[in-house]
Amino acid sequence: MKIKKAVFPVAGLGTRFIPATKAMAKEMLPVVDKPIIQYAVEEAFAAGIEQIIFVTGRGKKALEDHFDRSFEIEHSLMEKGKEDLLKQIQELVPKTGTIIYTRQNQPLGLGHAIWCARDIVGDEPFAVLLADDLIQTDKPVLAEMVKKFDRLRASMAAVMEIEKNQTDKYGILDAQQVEEDIFRIDDMVEKPKPEDAPSNLAIVGRYILTPRIFQHLGKEKKGAGGEIQLTDAMKALLKEQPIFGYKFHGKRFDCGDKVGFQMANLAFALERPDMRDRLINFIKEIQKDV
Ligand code: UTP
Repeated sequence: MKIKKAVFPVAGLGTRFIPATKAMAKEMLPVVDKPIIQYAVEEAFAAGIEQIIFVTGRGKKALEDHFDRSFEIEHSLMEKGKEDLLKQIQELVPKTGTIIYTRQNQPLGLGHAIWCARDIVGDEPFAVLLADDLIQTDKPVLAEMVKKFDRLRASMAAVMEIEKNQTDKYGILDAQQVEEDIFRIDDMVEKPKPEDAPSNLAIVGRYILTPRIFQHLGKEKKGAGGEIQLTDAMKALLKEQPIFGYKFHGKRFDCGDKVGFQMANLAFALERPDMRDRLINFIKEIQKDV
């Protein structure tokens, strides 16, 4: 079965970005000139996804408006003959019915947010993208995972190698390498201390899940931080079905973290010919003072 639906949990409180996130979802924060969420939505469409499911909480309006038409701006750009910008904002709006919104009325955790999409997803495998995890790559991650899914027909999480002293920030795999970039997962440990970590392979925010995951999420078992965790449901799923880790190519930025967010802005801006030179000069200049 083809992966047609992608769930975007965007209902977190984004407390690390207060006050910016007081009235706005953190996924609407821009990296250079695009909201973080737009990078992930573009990645999903590039992977052949046909339906986007946003699980929202607060900040819904700005997000909904972003993927909707703005007659006022379009009209103004048309009058000023700004064809390029006009095309850009028109292309941003998917066909009506492509985006579905549902609401998580309490931020009970990532697992719970995904569970909120159960009836919209139905009985088919689906993708989950955490927009916070922004990945700079020439091989878009979800498209690669969809290809792997076509062959492996099993749930999958994107993984990357991390420094051993960072394991307490991630879900870590206990896994066997079965292909150059594929690992068969035996177990997962949430945020272990480096000495307890079974590997240095960390899960990042791209998943393909079989619908069976909803059974486990529906048990509403609270895990780390008192939240309903996706990792716990995946651990339960592992007892019934195989799950693979896909080691992606590229550099991942944690845009849910203030430093990671600044790094992403810099890295993406340096890729832009119109910004690069001025930024490099600025970096050289401030380097003298540090
Ligand atoms: P985070 O763990 O980054 O939490 O969520 P957060 O609340 O967004 O941010 P902080 O830690 O308070 O700053 C990971 C992803 O899961 C979503 C978030 O929107 C983010 O995409 N999420 C988390 C939900 O949709 N609902 C939740 O209850 C929790």
